[in-house]
Amino acid sequence: MAHILHIDASPRGDRSVSRSLANQFITEWKAAHPDDTITYRDLGHHPVPFVSEAWIAAAFSSPDQYSPEMAEAIRISDELIDEFLAADQYVFSIPMYNFGISANFKAYIDQIVRAGRTFAVDETGYKGLVHNKKAVLILSQGGLYAEGSPAQSYDLQTPYLRLILGFMGVTDVEFIYADSLNMGDEARSQSIAKAESTLKEVALR
Ligand SMILES: Cc1cc2nc3c(=O)[nH]c(=O)nc-3n(C[C@H](O)[C@H](O)[C@H](O)COP(=O)(O)O)c2cc1C
Repeated sequence: MAHILHIDASPRGDRSVSRSLANQFITEWKAAHPDDTITYRDLGHHPVPFVSEAWIAAAFSSPDQYSPEMAEAIRISDELIDEFLAADQYVFSIPMYNFGISANFKAYIDQIVRAGRTFAVDETGYKGLVHNKKAVLILSQGGLYAEGSPAQSYDLQTPYLRLILGFMGVTDVEFIYADSLNMGDEARSQSIAKAESTLKEVALR
């Protein structure tokens, strides 16, 4: 039995492709793994705060030095990290905005990547502290950035997500793309159909 953390980052509702694909993934997953449990977070409609001065001060102080503002800032980060660490598997749906991840997902990353909680540093370098997790990332993109395509190097979403999850120790990452979404009806529907078939396969594993 596994515990899933499902996060949607698109601010769109029914019109969001990434949200719809993640919902389909979860439906398929539940059918194949009925005993698994799921925590859901909607960053698209309920973003988490940006890191603030109080947050930074608290992250590098002991609790007895916290002001009320520092305590509140770090409480939110602690809750998000506890939720992240409690899951065995992640299902994150994230739109491409300006070639990278949406700002609300970056705000989430800034809350959960914390020294002593999700990574450590010593004389040998950085060490991820998050082990034995799997991640399925469902990415929506208006253009086409697949390997070998002319705009491949514009995709900063994929390398960043691989790096930052790997930095925390999460290296078992599967990417599912709905790309070409703004490149005409045919390209769009073919890409969505391919993503739907991939997500069904991945959910059955
Ligand atoms: C503010 C904004 C910026 C975008 N930037 C890009 C981009 O740089 N490259 C791209 O391929 N698509 C871009 N898109 C298109 C989205 O990735 C596409 O519409 C996707 O379907 C959004 O995800 P959603 O359907 O889950 O909301 C952008 C869309 C918006 C609204």
